[in-house]
Amino acid sequence: MPVDLSNAKPLAWDSAKLDADTKVMLDNLQPNILQAHVRESMSLLLVHFGDGPDGRRFLRSLAPLMKSARKHLEEVRAFNRTKKPGTPYVGVGISKIGYLKLGHSTTRFTDNAFKSGMKRRKDTLNDPAVSAWEKHYQEEIHAIVLIGDAAPEPVAATRKRVLALLPKTAKIVGEEKGEGLRDAQGRGIEHFGYVDGRSQPLFLADQVAAESGANWNPFFPLSHVLVPDPLAPRPARHFGSYLVLRKLEQNVRAFREAEEALADALGLKGDDRPLAGAMLVGRFRNGTPLRLHGRPSSEGHPVQNDFSYRDDPGAKCPVGAHIRKANPRDSRDGGLERTLGVMMARRGQTYGRRTDTPWDDAPPAARPTGGVGLLFMAFNASLQGQFEFTQQTWADNPGFPDEGTGHDPVIGQGKRDVKVRYPKAWNSTKLSAPQRQVPQTVTMKGGEYFFMPSLAYLKSL
Ligand code: HEM
Repeated sequence: MPVDLSNAKPLAWDSAKLDADTKVMLDNLQPNILQAHVRESMSLLLVHFGDGPDGRRFLRSLAPLMKSARKHLEEVRAFNRTKKPGTPYVGVGISKIGYLKLGHSTTRFTDNAFKSGMKRRKDTLNDPAVSAWEKHYQEEIHAIVLIGDAAPEPVAATRKRVLALLPKTAKIVGEEKGEGLRDAQGRGIEHFGYVDGRSQPLFLADQVAAESGANWNPFFPLSHVLVPDPLAPRPARHFGSYLVLRKLEQNVRAFREAEEALADALGLKGDDRPLAGAMLVGRFRNGTPLRLHGRPSSEGHPVQNDFSYRDDPGAKCPVGAHIRKANPRDSRDGGLERTLGVMMARRGQTYGRRTDTPWDDAPPAARPTGGVGLLFMAFNASLQGQFEFTQQTWADNPGFPDEGTGHDPVIGQGKRDVKVRYPKAWNSTKLSAPQRQVPQTVTMKGGEYFFMPSLAYLKSL
């Protein structure tokens, strides 16, 4: 039976009744797409091939270092039962120009954003000029090798093995190091100090069973992240996913100043002051959703995610908050967002070391202005319909969902000339006087689009 990507039921990957084609799909799919792989420590190698056949041999030689999605899921289950650690993650992505360099035609890829490459999409996304990107992103990047694990040592050892396979005709044009950031309770956070990586589309039956709630259904069909690998031996059974990589530098000091200025403008005092930052993000630092609580709640470990905005016109969670802009959660027209299929699987990692304590209340002056940020990564079935749609049509659009909403305060790019009004207090329909939008504190430093091919493709090279 062909793999049904739009199946309305979560995938029971370990079921004895799993059909043969789905098994082949799981045995040839890269890990970290259907379920996040542990990647507390990461190395991202950006590769340029001088010679196509050498490039092919290199990619084929990486296949034995890689595991399948199914192997990964088995490792996760073993870890949950016995705490036996899994093996490192090795992922491979190839850019459009990379495929051309390897001697392939790319006509069978259907994603226009992928086929253009990120540099040529900069106007669509309001990105900075390519000449302002970090040097290595200005170069032609043909492939990316992602290495991740819970600890730095296995990453270093695997990185060494990968580099030993690199032909003389190829070079590493750049490398990014990802390092997980955690708060005092051990929750993963981003550099502004907020819990991150919580709300994800879930594809697998065991994950959905562990999470499903009354207000938000985290299940999404495989069609959100998988597409047939057009260059694999059997594209109907061999699947891949489009990866977006963007290096997003965070000016933590400027964001903290913006939080303080907004708290002052709204007249927030004492324990109510963190409401200002929560209005920008949509959650308090500890992950408490503003939709559910007006103060950080100690309820909910894991962090609460069972909410929709259906009965909240913006009095609790402003419609312009980052998480509401980036996922309006079925709030319009009976679930237009779900029908559009925008939700992507975010798999990023923070970069840069901190000497301060990211989640505490120390003054803005104690915060870094650069050198730290997010290696934003996400898997998509359509870069244009998911990542780009989110960035362009929602985050960068001051008129979404309504006139006067303003840009996404965290990731919005473009001139912020619209003034915005915030609820005067949590769950108040009274609005503040119009305020200047918070300044842009996240700067794109470069990136690229890749396709993560099936293992069958890599072995066929
Ligand atoms: C959620 C921060 C970049 C899309 C979140 C959350 C935080 C956060 C704190 C809440 C945790 C969660 O629900 O998982 C940031 C920061 C960014 C960044 C600091 C840049 C430095 C992006 C980008 C996109 C994006 C580039 C897409 C274009 C989303 C989505 C959610 C989310 C879809 C989940 C919303 C939900 O389902 O409720 N982000 N983010 N983020 N972010 Fe971002």
